[in-house]
Amino acid sequence: MAQAMNDLNAFMDNQEKKTVDASKKVRIGIIGCGWIAGSHVRRLLKLPDAEIVAACDLVPGKAKALMDEWGIEGVKTDYASHKEMIDDKSLNLDCVTVCTYNCQHKDPTVYALKNGLHVLLEKPFTVTLDEAVEIMRAEKESGKILSIGFQPRLDANMKMIKKIVDSGALGKIYYIQTGGGRRRGIPTPFGTSFIAKDTGGIGALGDIGCYSLDMVLNAIGYPKPLTVSGYTSNFFGTDPNYSNYVKTGHPEYAKAFEVDDFAAAFVRLEGGIILDFRIAWAMNLDTPGDTIIMGTKGSLRIPSTECWNGTVGGPMSIYHEVCGEQTRTEIPIIPQKEDVFELKMRSFLDAVKYGGTAPVPSSQILYNQAIIDGIAKSSALGREIEIEIPEI
Ligand SMILES: NC(=O)c1ccc[n+]([C@@H]2O[C@H](COP(=O)([O-])OP(=O)(O)OC[C@H]3O[C@@H](n4cnc5c(N)ncnc54)[C@H](O)[C@@H]3O)[C@@H](O)[C@H]2O)c1
Repeated sequence: MAQAMNDLNAFMDNQEKKTVDASKKVRIGIIGCGWIAGSHVRRLLKLPDAEIVAACDLVPGKAKALMDEWGIEGVKTDYASHKEMIDDKSLNLDCVTVCTYNCQHKDPTVYALKNGLHVLLEKPFTVTLDEAVEIMRAEKESGKILSIGFQPRLDANMKMIKKIVDSGALGKIYYIQTGGGRRRGIPTPFGTSFIAKDTGGIGALGDIGCYSLDMVLNAIGYPKPLTVSGYTSNFFGTDPNYSNYVKTGHPEYAKAFEVDDFAAAFVRLEGGIILDFRIAWAMNLDTPGDTIIMGTKGSLRIPSTECWNGTVGGPMSIYHEVCGEQTRTEIPIIPQKEDVFELKMRSFLDAVKYGGTAPVPSSQILYNQAIIDGIAKSSALGREIEIEIPEI
């Protein structure tokens, strides 16, 4: 135990902040000024080398209101679309952060890349696999950095999952169960952008399912997905008596609900690995189960969180044999010193500034998106399908 605590302390010390060269600023434009844009602004204000020079939103006045809320002066906001902002060469932008709803991830990202800008794109990557492929072709042609906004990856406990797998302690991985969910958690606090087909595009499957998939796929090195048998449903979202609609006085959201609120799938991955997945925005259950990674030498149990957002819900356990005895080793929760949302912005800025690679590369998240796309397609067809990923 003492050794474990020493290792933990050493790990924490390695999490020190780097010194930032504030003389060279990164010029940033924000596309889409809703909730997550507020989170970007809040963190960028803490970074001495970040300069927000422009922001835009399809809703007139929304970009200015966000800048006013954070007291940022001198930011140009009088643009009717992302195109107008990107076309304004007087801004000398280095990069943009794409904070639009899911169905507007592709267009601004492709346009920004084609105009020579680095992009931090919020999760999920896209709605469909084809959109992800189109973005990656633009990325390849441009040579610019594209990073996807998966901040849970930067959490010390999430990093520990990967360290455990990489250490070989689990042996060969052959079966994974992942997912999570909320009893009542359809995201409608700011209206219908997550639940309408033409804005959200996909529901729980993409919104929080992408995190569950990243938790395990990143840990095992993102093997290629081969086949998927998927299921989606929408029993809660389409019910006007869904308790949160009633509580908030919005039974009309039931009619606006056009996506999934639950998804499940059985996925075959390259290397003979099976992935069993389920995710819910709403269900009559506390959790659809912990995440488990089963291997020939050991298995890892990762407790689920109550309100799933892609993090570790409690101390993890490795089940293995020591000297022939069946043993359980507990991995204590590592206190996360730094704000993962700030680390997400910092790591992207560092890549832009020093010519690094994307902190969360599209080449990995392509497989995440291929599974999401495969689940939606398989569910619509009512049978297992092969996952075909076009050449980039
Ligand atoms: N990383 C995270 O933890 C996290 C958390 C919440 C949301 N998100 C993701 O961020 C995205 C946005 O979520 P949100 O809650 O801010 O949504 P939102 O609906 O509150 O805001 C999106 C905004 O984008 C604007 N917009 C859409 N298309 C545009 C375009 N082409 N040009 C300019 N503006 C445009 C809309 O008018 C809207 O104001 C979603 O994809 C969501 O999944 C990520």
